[in-house]
Amino acid sequence: ISPSLIDSFHRRHDYLRISLTERCNLRCFYCMPNEGVELSPPQHLLTDSEVIRLATLFVKGGVTKIRLTGGEPTIRKGIIEIIGRLDELRVHGLKSIGMTTNGLILHRRLPEFVANGLTHINLSLDTMDPFKFEIMTRRRGHEAVLRSLEAALLSPDLVSVKLNVVVMKGLNDHEVVDFVEMTKGHNLSVRFIEFMPFTGNKWDKAKMVPSSELLANIANRYPDIARAPGKINDTARSWKIPGYRGSIGFISSMSDHFCASCNRLRLTADGQIKVCLFDAKEISLRDEMRGGASDTELLQLISSAVRGKKEKHAGMEDIDVVTNRPMTLIGG
Ligand code: GTP
Ligand code: 5AD
Ligand code: SF4
Repeated sequence: ISPSLIDSFHRRHDYLRISLTERCNLRCFYCMPNEGVELSPPQHLLTDSEVIRLATLFVKGGVTKIRLTGGEPTIRKGIIEIIGRLDELRVHGLKSIGMTTNGLILHRRLPEFVANGLTHINLSLDTMDPFKFEIMTRRRGHEAVLRSLEAALLSPDLVSVKLNVVVMKGLNDHEVVDFVEMTKGHNLSVRFIEFMPFTGNKWDKAKMVPSSELLANIANRYPDIARAPGKINDTARSWKIPGYRGSIGFISSMSDHFCASCNRLRLTADGQIKVCLFDAKEISLRDEMRGGASDTELLQLISSAVRGKKEKHAGMEDIDVVTNRPMTLIGG
């Protein structure tokens, strides 16, 4: 890995999350502010070739894993071409191309995505109740998401399928066992995520269910539940119900952060490098690139951003929700 991607805490950043669009076809209240978000003027967004140029630079520097996010990445024009061109970066060391999606139109496009090189799908679904889905996302589409999940589970070429469930007190926390049961017959990883604060999402500690509480409830019901092995950089700590094909995981950003093993960098749709989900500070690669910067100069800029990465994000009381972006403009 290039020294440019190693920070002052010796963390090696080999995972790049690229946001491909600021738009989304859902309006999940924990992600998109009520009043919506102001979208960047189109000319501020990275073009397909700019995305590929930067991705190439990161991969040559040592990034082995790219995840496409949004907004909702499936609605980016040119998504197929982007996946295909990322696939060509395998010769430079790229090993996995993932996507985090709400699944609204994924069932229609998945075969094309996979044929072009997509290997990992993380699907967001917070409830098995279609009415609740509409309340949480402010749109219809529950059935479509289930169809996408099924398509992903049936796709032989996908390396992994994960389900992301943001758990909210009194809203979907009593559905947790239903989600655990989905891991019985499917090779699916269901991850329960602690609600995190971002601009405009009205975060409140009382709405958040700490993973420890959730695990205790699940263990009550499944006394044999056991820790499952994971990778060092995983966001989730994994568990398994013996005899079940899949696994469950807990993403405990609030109660038990995992910053020490962070290997992630983010590229926003408007071309900023963001070294931490919770750090509002960003550096524009777009402006330098459009100003004619060489690859070496861009790598220097990336290096200075990485060197500025803090050891961990501030404690949950002082996370900066004012100047940080709303979640929908970060992509998770
Ligand atoms: P994999 O690439 O499959 O390991 O997925 P992931 O968990 O890294 O990403 P995904 O997009 O599925 O996000 C799941 C949840 O983890 C979301 O709530 C993200 O906001 C959160 N998440 C992803 N990366 C980070 C991170 O670096 N820090 C924190 N605190 N949360 C993260
Ligand atoms: N807290 C935790 N997770 C969130 N996500 C979106 N907003 C939040 C939040 N406030 C999740 C989505 C998606 C992933 C990219 O981030 O559910 O799965
Ligand atoms: Fe990495 Fe920041 Fe997430 Fe911590 S909060 S794991 S430093 S991106």
